[in-house]
Amino acid sequence: MPKDDRVLVSFESADDAAVVRLDGNRFIVQSVDFFTPIVDDPYQFGQIAAANSLSDIYAMGGTPLFALNIVAFPIQDLPKTILSKILQGGADKASEAGITIAGGHSIDDKEPKYGMVVTGEVEKDKLIKNSGAQIEDALILTKPLGTGIISTAIKQGYADQNQIDIAVKSMSTLNKTAAEIMNDLDVHAATDVTGFGLLGHLLEMCKASNVSAEINFKNLDFLPGVRELAEKGIIPGGSKRNLEFVNKDVHFTDSMSAIDQVLASDAQTSGGLLISLSNENADKFLDIFNSTAPFPAYKIGLITKRTDYIISI
Ligand code: CO
Repeated sequence: MPKDDRVLVSFESADDAAVVRLDGNRFIVQSVDFFTPIVDDPYQFGQIAAANSLSDIYAMGGTPLFALNIVAFPIQDLPKTILSKILQGGADKASEAGITIAGGHSIDDKEPKYGMVVTGEVEKDKLIKNSGAQIEDALILTKPLGTGIISTAIKQGYADQNQIDIAVKSMSTLNKTAAEIMNDLDVHAATDVTGFGLLGHLLEMCKASNVSAEINFKNLDFLPGVRELAEKGIIPGGSKRNLEFVNKDVHFTDSMSAIDQVLASDAQTSGGLLISLSNENADKFLDIFNSTAPFPAYKIGLITKRTDYIISI
């Protein structure tokens, strides 16, 4: 990889987006994400994919500037109205984020896929990486968990309409408000919780910050019915792999059942922000965020000095 001094954040760290200096204090923050449909409704799929793509910019304290669409669609096999609805969902989320979609690229493909490249900006002193967590910090999570299990239940026909509605609402909610509040507080580290699940992303944060974390499982909030679905064996392969991956670094207390361990590892789509900040600022964050957010943020645990296990739960 060629060395470039303007590149501040790249894939050497497990951060959410690339950060590149333009000049002086001005930094571009950019990310790309796309995936196959996780819900049946094309408009909702578009909304979720866009919210998910924007999330990496918010997780780094950035402000989105514009987006480009990435589209794969079986143009011979599915009506074009479905594609229109997917794109409308994305466009509506982009306008909620205050940006336009300035272009994009589409290909003919057997399976539909949709997402965005999002370009944003961040001032150097507002940039939030995953490497700044400090001992005694409180850890906040801004959305409930369990979207991986619900998405699998939707595919297998086990999710009821209420569960689908709440999961769609959560996945299509922008992390914009959380990012704006973070900008006004001294936040030490943040990341969005997506495919690696809560424990996977927390593990990355702890490793990058050279600290450990203690999580109280009872504090974790799950979407309705997630535990019951997991107990029926409706668990995505990605969540099982997450658990295998984190296992050697996580101490599960005896009270944590096998199902509890999977729940804490569930792969998320368009999840909330995981934020590390002083306990005092955590309370300020919760006061402001929870006065308007559709899903309340909550404290899940704290950062400690590095111990044998990186995470205890
Ligand atoms: Co991310």
